[in-house]
Amino acid sequence: MLQSAAKVLSFASATSVSRGIAAGIRHYCKNTPTKLRVSQALSGAELGSNIKVQGWVRSVRAQKANVFLHVNDGSSLQSLQVVASSELSDPLLTFGSAVEVTGILKKSPHQKQPVELDAKQINVVGECNPVDFPFKIKERHGLEYIRQFPHLRCRTNAFSSLLRIRSEATAAIHSYFKDNGFVEINTPIITSNDCEGAGELFQVEPSGPDYADGENFFSVPAYLTVSGQLHLEVVSGAFSKVYTFGPTFRAENSQSRRHLAEFYMVEAEISFTQSLEDLTKVMEDMFRFATEHVLAHCVEDVDLFHKHVTPGHRDTVDAMIKNSFPVITYREAIDILRCSSERFAFPTDWGCDLKTEHEKYLVKHCGNIPVFVTDYPYDLKPFYARDNQDHPERTAAAVDLLVPGVGELCGGSLREERLNLLSARLEEAGLEDVYSWYLDLRRFGSVPHGGFGLGFERYLQCILGVDNIKDVVPFPRFSHSCLL
Ligand code: 4AD
Repeated sequence: MLQSAAKVLSFASATSVSRGIAAGIRHYCKNTPTKLRVSQALSGAELGSNIKVQGWVRSVRAQKANVFLHVNDGSSLQSLQVVASSELSDPLLTFGSAVEVTGILKKSPHQKQPVELDAKQINVVGECNPVDFPFKIKERHGLEYIRQFPHLRCRTNAFSSLLRIRSEATAAIHSYFKDNGFVEINTPIITSNDCEGAGELFQVEPSGPDYADGENFFSVPAYLTVSGQLHLEVVSGAFSKVYTFGPTFRAENSQSRRHLAEFYMVEAEISFTQSLEDLTKVMEDMFRFATEHVLAHCVEDVDLFHKHVTPGHRDTVDAMIKNSFPVITYREAIDILRCSSERFAFPTDWGCDLKTEHEKYLVKHCGNIPVFVTDYPYDLKPFYARDNQDHPERTAAAVDLLVPGVGELCGGSLREERLNLLSARLEEAGLEDVYSWYLDLRRFGSVPHGGFGLGFERYLQCILGVDNIKDVVPFPRFSHSCLL
């Protein structure tokens, strides 16, 4: 019975296919130009075909008989050269306008580009007045200038390169974790905990007529997350390797070149750790894997930065990949700073926080490559950091990765897995009730574990040599900034 039903179905589909051919469906498809992205057209895959390209004009040059355009759609740094007879010329065909071009893709007679589009039809989809448009044809605008136009800067070469690199680096980081057996966990954006204990929280409350002022939507005050760590720790009680990669929020009243109010953090948590080395290995491997991937997959985009935006930075990146990252303790770091002839604005006594100036000095001192600093004073680190129990210089098993040009890129630690020590520390801070669920993780099948967080924007600054963090994020959020 089933068999005969299947036969009927296949007979029906066979007849409809032959009817379709008879009705001329194939003929209709043949005349439709193949829609290609600029990068596909540039690869020459459809040479000789009738194609359609949609994008934005990056240059216009009119000669007697022909008009030459460069059209870009964000798929590559290179634009596609379009050659059109002057009859197709249109005064609306200006720098920045949006166009749709149909024509035959041909081998270019010029060495500068492999192919060109011999236009049969050009349609101006969206006009752009070049006088009002803030970017000018053939001008190389600086990052600081284009930052004034967050709604338009993706139309510049530099920022579109940045966005492609950012996308590729994101993919590389996910690949690294997938290839190494980590499970991705979506940790919450709304939370009640202040993981870092620094009080840099954005509170979340509903607005609208249904909610009275001061009334909590949840049963407790809620905040935007400052780190997914504690939720990752929950899951690391059942999965030995987990990670998360998502937006993170800190209400830091800082106008610095390395702080944002909203940034992306990559966080990993690993169970059954033996020592900090289990963490530094993952940090270093991930850094190297992602960087090599970006260099290999975004050659032109990275070149644009290393040649025109931050000349000379490529050597620094090559050195970062080639050399293994040195490890020094906080004690050694303090000794290095105290022995230096440099005049620092902030103190360098044991127990003081390392400031950006110190971090940058340490990186230079270690050969201008990334350096791990381990075993910080216990009191400098949040409640979750594991006590090294090394009196009298009481330290915690914490590690920061410092990198050229930026300073701190990653922060991590072994977590205090011993119930008695953790509950004593929480009790001291008056947080025992708030974190009773966190203590439960130590009551039921607790294991030595640890993890780290990497600031994704700082990572991009580091590999591209970009000085200001606002230039490596699509829509920067910082205190007193206008929001788009
Ligand atoms: O050192 P942090 O504060 O570490 C944590 O939040 C840990 N709970 C992570 C963990 O162990 N799972 O932050 C980690 C990294 C920093 O090293 C820095 O690169 C980046 O996040 N970061 C910022 N990036 C941009 N803007 C800010 N305001 C940042 N604050 C931290």
